[in-house]
Amino acid sequence: MSRLVHRIALVTGSTSGIGRAIAERFAAEGAAVIVTGRRTDLGAEVVRAITDAGGRASFVAGDLAAGKAAIEDFAAAVGEVDILVNNAAYLVGGRPTADTPEDVVDAALATNIKAPYLLTAALAPKMQARGSGAIVNIGSINALTGLAGSALYSATKAALHAMTAAWAAEFGPSGIRVNTIAPGPTEVEWSTHLRPMLERMVSTTPSGRLSSAAEIAAAAVFLASDESAHIHGATLPVDGGLTSTLAQSIVRN
Ligand SMILES: NC(=O)c1ccc[n+]([C@@H]2O[C@H](COP(=O)([O-])OP(=O)(O)OC[C@H]3O[C@@H](n4cnc5c(N)ncnc54)[C@H](OP(=O)(O)O)[C@@H]3O)[C@@H](O)[C@H]2O)c1
Repeated sequence: MSRLVHRIALVTGSTSGIGRAIAERFAAEGAAVIVTGRRTDLGAEVVRAITDAGGRASFVAGDLAAGKAAIEDFAAAVGEVDILVNNAAYLVGGRPTADTPEDVVDAALATNIKAPYLLTAALAPKMQARGSGAIVNIGSINALTGLAGSALYSATKAALHAMTAAWAAEFGPSGIRVNTIAPGPTEVEWSTHLRPMLERMVSTTPSGRLSSAAEIAAAAVFLASDESAHIHGATLPVDGGLTSTLAQSIVRN
């Protein structure tokens, strides 16, 4: 497959999980991938996996929650990109609103809203100057449906969905397409211990199973490539039908 040849792609949060799967899949599609995150050992591991498979990748470490100056330094180190995937997130564990400490609120807002906003602000003008680019935001089905204990995380993801629509309007006329993927519960390293609960959640969906990181990556390739050339500002759930068939799930239960 070579849908992303001659493209440089930055995938934030690509040291693990969905971001790593996207980075590996983008490289397999011919992109030169910039892997990033705070964990340098894992970053080196992802780069090694990509290059061992014949792909091109480099690692640029960065803490995206460290504020505007740090993000601008990071963007300068990265240089110009054709594709930006805003994937990194602070994954707030489910907890009652009244029990959420302020530092958790601050970390979620900084990582999930402020960071993609400022990183896009730093990188999109260079895409605009070239007249082309693709931005893929990794949102969540939590932004589309209510889940007790998820108000903070869901709100940050809803903000990213809203940024997608506004950026599609702002940057689209300059040749930049901006879209969102809303993954459903996805099999990744950190959620292994939650698997029984997550499997219950998806047991009555049309697919009846969790999403895989590879399935999210396949959607990201589509939205980053010319195959989606006329898709702007869309939200694509990759959730086995969870959000679109909620009523049917209730009937089945
Ligand atoms: N897994 C799911 O079921 C699911 C469902 C819906 C949506 N999502 C979304 O999918 C995306 C990926 O999640 P995941 O499940 O793959 O989780 P994950 O494996 O924990 O990945 C999160 C990534 O974000 C990076 N990150 C976190 N804070 C950062 C910071 N301050 N600066 C730089 N990088 C940071 C982490 O890298 P370092 O630790 O190396 O910094 C890591 O690579 C997130 O946007 C999440 O909201 C996931």
